[in-house]
Amino acid sequence: MSKENKDSIEKRRKFLKSMAAGSAMAIPVSAGAMGGMGGGGFGGGGSTGGGTASVTPFQVPLPIPPVLQPVSQDATTDYYEITQMEADVEIIPGTTTRIWGYNGITPGPTIVAQRGREVKVRQYNALPEHITTHLHGGHIEAASDGHPVDFVEPNNFKDYTYSNIQRATTLWYHDHAEYLTAPHVYKGLAGFYIITDDAEKSLNLPSGDKEVAFVIQDRSFNADGSFAYTGNRSGELGDTLIVNGAPQPYLEVSNTKYRFRILNGSNRREYILALSNGQQMTQIGTDGGLLPSPVNVDTIFMSPAYRSDIIIDFSQVPVGQSVVLQNLDGSGSTAEIMRFDVVRSETDTSDVPAVLSTDVVPLQESDAVVTRRFTFSMSRGNWVINGQPYDSQRIDVNPKLGTTEIWELTNRSMMNHPVHIHDIMWQVLDVNGQPPGEEYMGERDVFVVRPMSTVRVIGRFDDYTGLYVFHCHNLEHEDFAMMANFEVQP
Ligand code: C2O
Ligand code: CU
Ligand code: CU
Repeated sequence: MSKENKDSIEKRRKFLKSMAAGSAMAIPVSAGAMGGMGGGGFGGGGSTGGGTASVTPFQVPLPIPPVLQPVSQDATTDYYEITQMEADVEIIPGTTTRIWGYNGITPGPTIVAQRGREVKVRQYNALPEHITTHLHGGHIEAASDGHPVDFVEPNNFKDYTYSNIQRATTLWYHDHAEYLTAPHVYKGLAGFYIITDDAEKSLNLPSGDKEVAFVIQDRSFNADGSFAYTGNRSGELGDTLIVNGAPQPYLEVSNTKYRFRILNGSNRREYILALSNGQQMTQIGTDGGLLPSPVNVDTIFMSPAYRSDIIIDFSQVPVGQSVVLQNLDGSGSTAEIMRFDVVRSETDTSDVPAVLSTDVVPLQESDAVVTRRFTFSMSRGNWVINGQPYDSQRIDVNPKLGTTEIWELTNRSMMNHPVHIHDIMWQVLDVNGQPPGEEYMGERDVFVVRPMSTVRVIGRFDDYTGLYVFHCHNLEHEDFAMMANFEVQP
């Protein structure tokens, strides 16, 4: 790369370092935050981390990542620039954690895209290792998909083009470097990318400060605040839950409806969300966008990389009281995710219409030109698909553009595999021959496949030709090497 580019990266790095100090991560800490052991100690949910830092729950406010502003715009395109860099931030109150962040914060800045309007993101790599950036859930030309070996070397950059031709939904961008995705994401390389459109806006769902995106992750910390990442090949489990980068935060709300776009951004941990007062939540969307109609649910299961778009109606909670978002799959320090404090009363002007969207056509089995079968298992210390570990040079599948396929995903191991397929959205046909449950609702790009189970999904390769991957989104499984290439043919 040119000297000019290097200089400008160096300048940006310095500028962003000075900014990181005042970023969304530098949370004002309340005086009581360091006192006492909270959350019932460690060991929840099969924790393996060696962390020793401790958190008192609900001491810090939920951080909201800043919305990234374009550096320029023209008739068709919004242009953005992001620098991936190290930064020291306060996650556990009173300590400092060295993170890898997009613009030095984690989660990274949120990109808000308009359906049909192109986005170009220039990603500078000011990190010490090569990286590649994937927009998860995006219908993207292959050259911009962030293929695991499409590396951006340190002190270099790449321009990614996103057409935003898909339905409005919640996507996220994260690192995808071959064999390094798990540690890179663990260190902080993840952020929201939201596609919106007029149809969604016309619904009058809760919006403004009543529309909040948050990512749930688990981390373990050493006493000095540094991440205690072990690289466990089964999948990393942390003992501390962080939401938008803050440990078990609280959010002050009014007694009205709120829309939450929830992402499980954990390497391996699953969650079963529930509200501590027993109240139901209303799910309005999944990975691929809005559901046809709202669905009232008591619990929401979330595998790694699942997105759940939900409404919580706080009019059922008296002002002055709180409700905790629980994780029924956790225990001890992983049983409580965050707390909503209902602090004021307000008139609710939002709606949750009975019809949310009409643009998803259920795909028919008879539309499929082929059924492909994939097994997910362990072989000779590797996680493998159809018996083979990932090889960036091997292309296993060649779907044809414009055709519909059924993929039959069978788990022959004793761990769950959240299978993720790039490029398009899918619908789940059945699970072990039975109608799929709520955790498979809507259009999806991730489907949990439980031990000794088979999930059949159907999807249409409708947008782009070229090379993509599919893999387990338990990130240590992906790195060791439960992933394969597919190439969409013209
Ligand atoms: Cu979110 Cu291929 O990944
Ligand atoms: Cu993806
Ligand atoms: Cu897996």
